[in-house]
Amino acid sequence: MNQPSAHATPPRHVAIIMDGNGRWAARRGLPRAAGHREGGKAVRRTIEAAIEHGVEWLTLFAFSSENWRRPQTEVTDLTRLLRRYLRSELKELEQGGIKLRVIGERDRFGPTLRAELAAAEERTKHNTKFNLVIALSYGARAELVAAARLIAQQAQSGQLDPATLDETGFARYLATADMPDPDLLIRTSGEQRLSNFLLWQAAYAELSFVDVLWPDFNATHFAAALADYARRDRRFGVRPDETNPGRTAAPKQAGA
Ligand code: FPP
Repeated sequence: MNQPSAHATPPRHVAIIMDGNGRWAARRGLPRAAGHREGGKAVRRTIEAAIEHGVEWLTLFAFSSENWRRPQTEVTDLTRLLRRYLRSELKELEQGGIKLRVIGERDRFGPTLRAELAAAEERTKHNTKFNLVIALSYGARAELVAAARLIAQQAQSGQLDPATLDETGFARYLATADMPDPDLLIRTSGEQRLSNFLLWQAAYAELSFVDVLWPDFNATHFAAALADYARRDRRFGVRPDETNPGRTAAPKQAGA
């Protein structure tokens, strides 16, 4: 008989690269904006599914640092969609016990979206049932460079002794400070790369590449990714304890 999985419990934190909105629209002869709109519906379904499965954290890659290089009209469509999403869903996030947090270079967005993001975070900050993290204008390399810059400044001014800096200390300088690392990272659309998403945090994440375009992603696909995750043997680079096969302790991390 199979040994029970070391993580029969669901992943605490799921991160998703929501890919394939453009292809979904192109296949239907629709503008890309229609794919993003439909992708917004998949966001809602996925939050509901994650809560139902007992996941505590969901991080969604909604806009990458590289997305700024898309045509201006598409950038405008995406930011408009985000604003509309915030306006229509905020009450539900608030009442559903969902805490919203945004990571990424939000200063690159205009004042209206920035103000709406700040207000949404403020209004949901006391919620504890579920954590929704939206990565906006996010790029892992930029995040790491920003952390290195701040560390160098603090070392130079004598606030930080470089010799005392370890991995846990370094992680406190990242946008994800105080968040647990993702246990499972899903990418839709069949592409198999990380595209500069959570490069530090996903060091030990299980990867799941789902061959479905994001607007088609639903609760069944989410459940299948979780079932696949439950069969994985997570070792964190450590050999399993021979007296307890399949079991290894997860490394200590923030929020754990
Ligand atoms: C990738 O598809 C998706 C995006 C760049 C945007 C994701 C945004 C949403 C799903 C909108 C709603 C989000 C929230 C959080 C409300 P793509 O355009 O790269 O698709 P392609 O690879 O097929 O061109």
